[in-house]
Amino acid sequence: HAQDAAAGEKVFTKCKVCHVADKDQNKVGPSLNGVIGRTAGTHPGFSYSQAMVAAGKSGVKWDEPTLTTYLHDPKAMVKGTKMAFAGLKDDKDVANVIAYLKQFSK
Ligand code: HEM
Repeated sequence: HAQDAAAGEKVFTKCKVCHVADKDQNKVGPSLNGVIGRTAGTHPGFSYSQAMVAAGKSGVKWDEPTLTTYLHDPKAMVKGTKMAFAGLKDDKDVANVIAYLKQFSK
């Protein structure tokens, strides 16, 4: 859905202080380039919280359902995450930002 991704690009302005998606680059947060399908806490060169590494080891992979849960309330899903972001309250914003991220994933 091109339209959803365009709306998601606007939502992504809330993420941009910390994340890049259109190229593979870590900032304050890990690169979100190729994040769909990736195991949590595994992007090379980024220093994750223990909580995020543990989430990945317990089998969390980033897909539509897991991203939806995390982006609604990061600290509720990954207790101890160092992502300093309250979450997106609007379901549409979550769906659209995921559509945006899909453009930069296989
Ligand atoms: C981690 C998405 C906003 C900082 C993550 C991860 C995702 C994500 C999917 C896990 C990546 C992985 O496991 O490799 C988003 C989205 C945002 C957003 C879509 C906007 C809606 C922010 C903001 C900040 C931030 C505003 C900084 C204030 C971080 C950090 C981590 C992280 C530091 C690593 C967490 C940890 O190791 O516990 N983000 N993020 N993010 N994000 Fe965000």
